[in-house]
Amino acid sequence: MHASNTPAPVYSDTAVRQFALMSVVWGVVGMLVGVVIASQLAWPDLNLGIPWLSYGRLRPLHTNAVIFAFGGCALMATSLHVVQRTCQVRLFAPGLASFVFWGWQAVIVAAAISLPMGYTSGKEYAELEWPIDILIALVWVAYAIVFFGTIGIRKVRHIYVANWFYGAFIIAVALLHIVNSAAIPAGAMKSYSAYAGVQDAMVQWWYGHNAVGFFLTAGFLGMMYYYVPKQAGRPVYSYRLSIVHFWALIFTYMWAGPHHLHYTALPDWTQSIGMVFSLILLAPSWGGMINGVMTLSGAWHKLRTDPILRFLIVSLSFYGMSTFEGPMMSIKTVNALSHYTDWTVGHVHSGALGWVGLISMGSLYYLIPRVYGRTEMFSVKAIELHFWMSTIGIVLYIAAMWIAGVMQGLMWRAVNADGTLTYTFVESVKATYPYYVVRVLGGALYLGGMLVMAWNVWMTVISGFSKPSPIPQTAIAHA
Ligand code: HEM
Ligand code: HEM
Repeated sequence: MHASNTPAPVYSDTAVRQFALMSVVWGVVGMLVGVVIASQLAWPDLNLGIPWLSYGRLRPLHTNAVIFAFGGCALMATSLHVVQRTCQVRLFAPGLASFVFWGWQAVIVAAAISLPMGYTSGKEYAELEWPIDILIALVWVAYAIVFFGTIGIRKVRHIYVANWFYGAFIIAVALLHIVNSAAIPAGAMKSYSAYAGVQDAMVQWWYGHNAVGFFLTAGFLGMMYYYVPKQAGRPVYSYRLSIVHFWALIFTYMWAGPHHLHYTALPDWTQSIGMVFSLILLAPSWGGMINGVMTLSGAWHKLRTDPILRFLIVSLSFYGMSTFEGPMMSIKTVNALSHYTDWTVGHVHSGALGWVGLISMGSLYYLIPRVYGRTEMFSVKAIELHFWMSTIGIVLYIAAMWIAGVMQGLMWRAVNADGTLTYTFVESVKATYPYYVVRVLGGALYLGGMLVMAWNVWMTVISGFSKPSPIPQTAIAHA
């Protein structure tokens, strides 16, 4: 609960604090597993011959931990923080919010046990088996009740745009999860998809791409629309643009999924639709990025001294970069080169480490001292150090993957005059080795930054109570 001497409503922040701390904890765990699998790709002996620790089982553990545990907890912490401040009320049903917290942690622990044991539905980003899927659905419905219930009892007529993005994320993820996870159980931890063949692939990548659009983008745009204006001390650049941004983004994302299935058995026209909508997606994505970055106009000097603002603004640069790269990769002829290569992995991590990671860290650095009644984080120098470690880590990671990816694509398609392949596959693997080592270095730096954050958060939480926050929690950013 925020310690305030103003007559502002007393917010119910228990779940906000819990989710914020667990986001940091799961961030460390998920990134550690990322560094382990990156090392296994460089030095396969690290699989150690133990099935539980093999790459094939740890990879989905990494993706689930970083997306749903680290990202999910950050989204839940910030959405429950933002919705109370912008609606000027306490959470609707705080008891249910507690269920959401414990239920979500149970899902994460179930994933952390079942994935290394080899239980998987085989659908990327939806690997968890049906009993866990049912728990996810229950927790998500409870989360929706708490969030929309709070909007329902708001004291402010207007619904601030950050809540639109969080709301769209909550509704879309419910829809995606329920449709894509539909399956026939065939045992306690075994099921078969309700769809078959190419329809199964189509539903899976409708889900997969919208997991990017709604889980990894819309919710984090909610963070952008609240925390960037707050930290910059400026109103959002254009409220009108934010509304156009919202509707254009959510309409367009839904159609782009088939770009994951170029040159497959999916009908050709469907692939073309996926490509065209991906190209259109550049416009709302950049509209949103510009709206976030321009919020700083007149306050650019703050970037020199404020490392939290730097996290937020650099995250937007990576957002702009990955949403330029994505539409390019969706062009079929470009995809013919990039698909199956490490270029895709580079694209993923410029979005994941650069956009999702940095915006979450910046927002948590704003939120944590406030919900613990502190004036600021324990060490601003440590935030600065974290910023540089993560930024250098990202650059090493993505530059290595871009070079490796383009090289692989070119080696695989090189042919001799007589039509035979110039390179064997294993030659491309050998050529990739140095880039895999650079990725391990970049990942280790990024993980190191996260450990610095964990220490700083811990020190902030245990340090004695200081004066209440000078920033009025009641002010909202929609001026
Ligand atoms: C220390 C930081 C990290 C390291 C070292 C790391 C490393 C890796 C590695 C080695 C892979 C497998 C690539 C392959 O299959 O060839 C991977 C996949 C993936 N990671 Fe990370 N990762 C990190 C952080 C993150 C974060 C923070 C996120 C999301 C918020 C993320 C999301 C993903 C996703 C979505 C994939 C699947 C990519 C695909 O299928 O193309 N990673 N990561
Ligand atoms: C305008 C926005 C975007 C478009 C049009 C786009 C497009 C694409 C394309 C064409 C691929 C390669 C598909 C393939 O060859 O298999 C891809 C992969 C991917 N992108 Fe994006 N992207 C966008 C933004 C983002 C952002 C912001 C993130 C992360 C935060 C992201 C995460 C991913 C992931 C996780 C994959 C790998 C999926 C997999 O194969 O497992 N994308 N994207």
